[in-house]
Amino acid sequence: MTAPRAMVGRPHVIVLGNEKGGSGKSTTAVHLTVALLRMGYRVGCLDLDARQATLARYLDNRRQFMRDAGVELPMPVYQRIVRSNAADRSSMEADETQAFEAAKGELGTLDYLVIDTPGSDSFLSRLGHSHADTLVTPLNDSFLDLDLLARIEGEKNEILGPSIYSQMVWEQRQRRAARGRRPIDWIVMRNRLSHIDARSKRQIAALLTKMASRFHFRVVAGFGERVIFRDLFPRGLTLLDLGEALGMPLKFSHLAARQEIRALVRAIGLPDPEEAMAAPNQGRETGEALQAASSGQ
Ligand SMILES: Nc1ncnc2c1ncn2[C@@H]1O[C@H](COP(=O)(O)OP(=O)(O)O)[C@@H](O)[C@H]1O
Ligand SMILES: [Mg+2]
Repeated sequence: MTAPRAMVGRPHVIVLGNEKGGSGKSTTAVHLTVALLRMGYRVGCLDLDARQATLARYLDNRRQFMRDAGVELPMPVYQRIVRSNAADRSSMEADETQAFEAAKGELGTLDYLVIDTPGSDSFLSRLGHSHADTLVTPLNDSFLDLDLLARIEGEKNEILGPSIYSQMVWEQRQRRAARGRRPIDWIVMRNRLSHIDARSKRQIAALLTKMASRFHFRVVAGFGERVIFRDLFPRGLTLLDLGEALGMPLKFSHLAARQEIRALVRAIGLPDPEEAMAAPNQGRETGEALQAASSGQ
């Protein structure tokens, strides 16, 4: 692979966020990371989930698997930020800002930075969000999860106002605007699609469309409900790695899952994974053009 270079002087930052655990942030983070690596980009990961650190543990497992199986897999540079123990709030925020900035600086010459955040509000999570060029919010396909984005009147399915999380995203957008940065491209990704009836699906889609124009996000389809995701974590593998050589052969259903990842990468506005995998440099140029276009250059 040819030596990669940074696209516009700093990485494009993709933040995975919402204030609910278990909706697929870390799973999506690792799949996006490996998709970008396989396209020839240099990728860094930052795990801000101090308590669970799922993304960092996932990548630790990947490193261990490579050692045990004697195989080479694409690997990002990654760091984990831990919460400060400082007694008062302002020292804690100063510590965490410093740790965040130091990590971001170290990963600053890469092409992409994928940041995973915890499923609860914290200073670190807000800081991460304020640095997002792209924010991806995975959402399980249920009415309960819509609550994460807006307060909804039950009977009539009316949107009463933003949720705490949507307000937080709005505040981070203001923070970015004050710093003269381009707006966050907020993408809500419907994850674990399938298990609900067609009528509920339609209602959820209609509500999401309303929310999207009100809170300024785009809706994209994510991954179907697939048990394989659970089996991948202990080995640190993604659906993009599977093959005979790893003892996890690629099955027909996995091909559909790969298409979902590919569609997500495309929907985010990143270059097409398979085209870029076939010609990494071409993908890189497409990425540059996309970035230049979205930053108004
Ligand atoms: N599309 C999916 N199908 C099946 N299981 C999934 C899917 N997405 C995520 N999971 C599983 O759900 C659990 C929570 O996912 P995770 O990515 O850790 O969520 P979060 O980071 O938002 O807390 C994990 O066990 C993961 O394997
Ligand atoms: Mg997580």
